[in-house]
Amino acid sequence: MKMKLFHGTYIIHIIVSIFAIFSSILVTTYYPDSGIGRSLRSFVKSSPRNLTVSFSMKIPKKEDLKANPRDADRFLQENFYRESCPRAVKIVRNSMRRMYHAKSSIAPSLVRLVFHDCFIGGCDASVLLDSDKSFLSEKEAAPNLSLKGFDVIDSIKSELEEVCPGVVSCADIIVLAARESVELTGGPSYFLKTGRRDSMVAFKEAAGRELPAPTANLSTILSSFASRGFTPRETVALLGAHSIGITHCNFFQERLYNFSGTGKADPELNPRFLQDLKTKCPFAASTSSASPYAADSSTRSLHASNSQDMVNSNVDKVVDLSFDNEGGNDGFGVRYYKGLLHKKGVMFSDSQLMAKEETEKWVRQYASDKHRFRKDFSMAMTKLSNNQILTGNVGQVRIKCSKIH
Ligand code: HEM
Repeated sequence: MKMKLFHGTYIIHIIVSIFAIFSSILVTTYYPDSGIGRSLRSFVKSSPRNLTVSFSMKIPKKEDLKANPRDADRFLQENFYRESCPRAVKIVRNSMRRMYHAKSSIAPSLVRLVFHDCFIGGCDASVLLDSDKSFLSEKEAAPNLSLKGFDVIDSIKSELEEVCPGVVSCADIIVLAARESVELTGGPSYFLKTGRRDSMVAFKEAAGRELPAPTANLSTILSSFASRGFTPRETVALLGAHSIGITHCNFFQERLYNFSGTGKADPELNPRFLQDLKTKCPFAASTSSASPYAADSSTRSLHASNSQDMVNSNVDKVVDLSFDNEGGNDGFGVRYYKGLLHKKGVMFSDSQLMAKEETEKWVRQYASDKHRFRKDFSMAMTKLSNNQILTGNVGQVRIKCSKIH
């Protein structure tokens, strides 16, 4: 009886072992550093007596392997590279400062980059990956066609690779470089832990679908941020980043010439501001484009065809996001909110912050209280930079930020 039971157990072990070998191959292919493949292989070698213990082992889904954003404090460390690359944070800082002094427009580009990385699939540098045989690059998603700053990250990464090869993740470089950028452009410095790892996939479809468009209304904006754990207050604070950098005319020209198909301008735009914007962005054919990001994809295709430049002379035209607003001397953030109070939000999505009391009250607060804004913005940026991180053995530390290895 005892023998029979042992034989039965033995057969089950063989069946489960075959399953484990296949799983091990699959897991090792997709999560080479995860250690799960190793566990499955050691199960195969183990005795049937371990069956009960081994049976309780569950193969986690990719989502399960991401640290819960609320636990980022537990998984990340104050100075993760203290032993492996003690100068990492300093190298990012010095490198950013050097490049910023040569070309100041890199700073806003990196602040936008951290938003687009962390919002889609978490802060895992997935936005930097080029297309591969198993996935398409997020860079090709319509909202990302005008993203910049990839060369800046590559340059910082090469410097780090020379000092401590294979140690500092691209995901950490993005968040650290964005923090430097905020500081360099007059914003607050905020607290960041390190230890993020890089994803082994990109999420092109999600980037196309989930990044809010400049034509989004308030409820779309709030629900998109809420689904990532951000309150309306935090959402308004994060949008203070639109006090730096530029926007292409394509993203708001519909407001100037054909708002909601009326053939007129958005009545919510300050009339003098409207005239100034019209001068900067003369009427162009793509005004009737159905999607603002479709207009953006035309940016790329037009570069390929000079004859088309006659059709839309506006594709390369840009205005400063802080163009002609009220609080020019008020610095990072505050000038954006003051502009909104005077109906001078450049994009429709910006002006939507004034559409309802739940966000308008924060616009008013931040316009009049610089310290409150800086505190809230700092906390919101730390939270954004900790969104759905990869830690431990999950993912990898890429050697080249645009490729997995
Ligand atoms: C409703 C949410 C948002 C929408 C619809 C939106 C949309 C846009 C668009 C269309 C541009 C112009 C890009 C171009 O013409 O090249 C832009 C620029 C920018 N965005 Fe946002 N954005 C949003 C939220 C954010 C957040 C949360 C941040 C950062 C925390 C951010 C930071 C920036 C920065 C710094 C720029 C200037 C980029 C540059 O000068 O290169 N945005 N945004």
